Amino acid sequence: MNGVLKIGFALLLGAGSIPRAYAGDVKAGAVLADKCQTCHGLDGLSKIAEAPNIAGQNEQYLIKQLTAFKNGERQNEMMSLVAPSLSDREIEDLAGYYSAIEIKVVSIPGQ
Ligand code: HEC
Repeated sequence: MNGVLKIGFALLLGAGSIPRAYAGDVKAGAVLADKCQTCHGLDGLSKIAEAPNIAGQNEQYLIKQLTAFKNGERQNEMMSLVAPSLSDREIEDLAGYYSAIEIKVVSIPGQ
């Protein structure tokens, strides 16, 4: 049992050095992001006060939120217009694209 756990942990550590694989097609997502850029930018940084930054956001989280907007579970006057026309595949591609944008925290207040 202990041995199995050790192997599992080693695999987990090793996975960190392998480039991340995205469920969605990042290149297809980049093309689709044209529909999102007015509010979220092609760089994933908010262009209007109401819209959040989505650059570098967790891929699974993005898929979950876009699906929730699509099926009406989450509602917003803007996103509820955009999301229903997206297929599940397109949602994955967009989530892959926006999550693949690398972000870096440069400064934290008080630190
Ligand atoms: C007209 C502006 C507009 C467009 C276009 C738009 N969004 Fe949004 N988006 C918003 C706003 C506003 C919110 C915040 C919703 C809320 O307050 O619940 C949002 C929220 C989101 C969220 C949830 C983020 C979170 O932190 O929970 C995701 C994901 C998202 N948008 C992705 C997209 C994608 C992908 C597209 C393109 C297909 C897109 N949006 C197009 C305005 C827009």
